[in-house]
Amino acid sequence: MLNFKKYITEKEYFKVASQVAEEMNIQIYVVGGFVRDLILDRKLDDVDILVVGNGLDFAKKLSQKLGVKKVDYFKTFGTAHFFYKDIDLEFVGARTESYSRESRNPEVEIGTFEDDINRRDFTINTLAISLNKNNFGELIDKFGGVKDIELKLIKTPLDPVETFNDDPLRILRAFRFASQLNFKLDETLLEAATKLANRLEIISQERVTEEFFKILKSPKPSVGLKLLFDSGVMEVIFPEVANLGGVEQRNDFHHKDVFLHTCQVVDNVASVSDNVWLRFAALMHDIAKPPTKRFDEKVGWTFHGHEEKGSRWMKYIFKRMKLPFSKLDYVRKLVRLHLRPIALISDEVTDSAIRRFIVTIGEDLEDMITLCRADITSKNPKKVTRYLSNYEKVMDKVRDVKERDKLREFQSPVHGEEIMKIFNIPPSRKVGEIKTTIEEAILDGKIGNNYKEAFEYMMKIKDEFT
Ligand code: CTP
Repeated sequence: MLNFKKYITEKEYFKVASQVAEEMNIQIYVVGGFVRDLILDRKLDDVDILVVGNGLDFAKKLSQKLGVKKVDYFKTFGTAHFFYKDIDLEFVGARTESYSRESRNPEVEIGTFEDDINRRDFTINTLAISLNKNNFGELIDKFGGVKDIELKLIKTPLDPVETFNDDPLRILRAFRFASQLNFKLDETLLEAATKLANRLEIISQERVTEEFFKILKSPKPSVGLKLLFDSGVMEVIFPEVANLGGVEQRNDFHHKDVFLHTCQVVDNVASVSDNVWLRFAALMHDIAKPPTKRFDEKVGWTFHGHEEKGSRWMKYIFKRMKLPFSKLDYVRKLVRLHLRPIALISDEVTDSAIRRFIVTIGEDLEDMITLCRADITSKNPKKVTRYLSNYEKVMDKVRDVKERDKLREFQSPVHGEEIMKIFNIPPSRKVGEIKTTIEEAILDGKIGNNYKEAFEYMMKIKDEFT
């Protein structure tokens, strides 16, 4: 394991913090995610410093010692933070914090170091490193957090019902950590999450959405999505996604579970792209399949118009989830067009159909094709190869049309002025027609793209236009 003492001692701000605490005769600790990520060797974010005493006073004294001018104080929450060089240092006084049954606001009470650590969410987040003179750099692990890190286990320090009742957002945090770190959940934790899923209703939409998107950003989002679904939490926070679950069989036609398919599509996108909005679009692409589902005796299950309906739902979903409207058009477009490339596979497709697709999809063409490829979840390798090569065909057509369109932008080497002079005509439609005829001859490869050949060609066709 990492040598904490060495790591902490090397950081100037920890040493200064320790001296300030000594002068103020209070105890301070590095706690929470920083310690966890230090052990996991993950990228380190902000440093949380727990102050057994007044966190604001301590932050003020330390900032003065470090020569930091700008400090933010959040008096209502008893927290403060400032940047020292590019390190984000956060300070909080030791406390207990819990949501009562009725209130949407947590009740905060001043507490001891023990009180504070006991009321934290997961054992892996209860770890603390002392910054106090007598045991500087010592790891304090009251709930076996290090062991749980080794076991890759998310577990609450107290009875999970109590921990979740204190702050129901922790249900989502548990799933998020499992997804981010690829950890398992303790069984009693999962039971409590299932039982208390409805308690999430008291949590603000912003906090819920933030955790949901952290799941989408994780290396394999399906880990978190499936936990949300299996625990019934998805029904509370994202009912449309929960509705994708379930299979049905009629005659010989088996209806695939759209939720599991969607999870796979999201994972496929995640394996090739960090763009969380593309991942979200993948999550949304079949969202309107349930209400458009019909059974046709001959062809089986159909979902006509699910892409149109789904894209129309996006505005409402963005509003409810408090998502940034700047991303609405992007997601809406990908949902609406996700079947379009398939329609363009046939050999009979005209250039203008391809051109229309290029114009509608605009700069998001690559993302669209990434989503389409990710949408192939067949277990049959032959089918997968065929579908993939179909998309290649579409992309070839797109490239081809784009290339030719670029050529079309060029100008005839013989200009309008000269045409008018030679043909002895005023500015008119005819000038344009003659120019186009010359350009077409170049595009068709009849003559080269240069003045001499273009002029000769013009003289040759002169009779046709007089
Ligand atoms: N915490 C908690 N309950 C919450 C939120 C936070 O007990 N609902 C505690 C945890 O001990 C956590 C610490 O506060 O480690 C800091 O919280 P935060 O910065 O939100 O999370 P991190 O664990 O640092 O992880 P991340 O930065 O990935 O969100």
